[in-house]
Amino acid sequence: MAKLNVGFIGCGGIARAHFPHLSKLPNAKMLGFCDVDLDRAQRAADEFSGKAFQTPAEMLDSIKLDAIWVCLPPFAHGAAELACVEHGVPFMVEKPINRSLQQARRIADAVAEKGLLTAVAYMNRYRKGVQLAKAMFDEDPPVLAMGGWIGGPPRPDPNVSISMWWIQKDKSGGQFIEQVTHTADLLRYLCGEPMQVSAFAAQGFNRDIPGYTIEDAIVVSIKMANGGVATMHSCCASGAHGGVTLSVFAPKHAAEFTGWGHDATLYTAGSKAGPKKVEGEGDIFEIEDKAFLKAVEKQDQSLVKSDYFDGLKTLQLTLAVDRAISTARIVKIGI
Ligand SMILES: NC(=O)c1ccc[n+]([C@@H]2O[C@H](COP(=O)([O-])OP(=O)(O)OC[C@H]3O[C@@H](n4cnc5c(N)ncnc54)[C@H](O)[C@@H]3O)[C@@H](O)[C@H]2O)c1
Repeated sequence: MAKLNVGFIGCGGIARAHFPHLSKLPNAKMLGFCDVDLDRAQRAADEFSGKAFQTPAEMLDSIKLDAIWVCLPPFAHGAAELACVEHGVPFMVEKPINRSLQQARRIADAVAEKGLLTAVAYMNRYRKGVQLAKAMFDEDPPVLAMGGWIGGPPRPDPNVSISMWWIQKDKSGGQFIEQVTHTADLLRYLCGEPMQVSAFAAQGFNRDIPGYTIEDAIVVSIKMANGGVATMHSCCASGAHGGVTLSVFAPKHAAEFTGWGHDATLYTAGSKAGPKKVEGEGDIFEIEDKAFLKAVEKQDQSLVKSDYFDGLKTLQLTLAVDRAISTARIVKIGI
């Protein structure tokens, strides 16, 4: 089997979630490792017998790659994707695709012009429970959805880079844009497009965290294009209890997802068998990575469940929430 040469831009925490199984796939050779922190790139390159680089342009000018994983924090996007486009290399980008809507739009235009295959790492779309729910709600449009992420106060650790940029509003966008983007994406996937949002934020509960500039909690109300409504929330100031949840209700069906793994309970009105339970897959990254590699191998965009343009719509929703908070107004999406 011919191997695809794969590269990574950003070799931090999430890249390391992709490494273990990609290194075992018979159709992939992990060849290029790029990080502004060259030592980090070099460590990964040594581990997998690849080559290390400090910039995307250096990597793409030096070695021939077939697919790239862009594993950058929200604030660091731009040069990576544009270099992939310039060299015609398909890329999978981690969520959220950017911190800036303007820059994400410029990248989307470049991707469209090149006709490049892309993927966005909204891995929950690949879960069996989500797929079964999608089939239900495609036939029976939801009237109500409610979901979000609740966690405890962040604890910055200078040895863990994510914990430093995550708490800075200008870098991560805050918990809603950075983390609850997963739920915002599933809302769009299962319920269709949002039309308008209003939102409120809480601040001042998390104290004495050096460098902390994000919201402690956010609540959002959404009017959907299909006429339904949704509420979403984020909280990173709940020290005693929290979790990840999404509940979706339609006239004949309902679905509840809980936990990081999105364990699903699916309900059908009048079913004698009762609710169907589907446990979330353990290593969902392996499933999404295999789908992207197969799409690259076959040059078939339809094998990927979220492309760059889809990721852009989810970014648009989460940034509309930001604007609704800062302007204290209802924000129309996509207008
Ligand atoms: N899909 C998921 O469930 C999931 C889980 C964790 C993180 N993520 C996402 O992955 C992204 C990265 O998160 P992380 O946990 O890997 O962060 P991280 O801070 O651990 O790693 C990011 C890496 O990118 C490098 N970097 C920064 N700017 C760069 C640039 N311009 N060029 C090259 N390298 C650069 C940093 O040096 C660092 O090594 C975030 O958007 C995050 O939301 C997704």
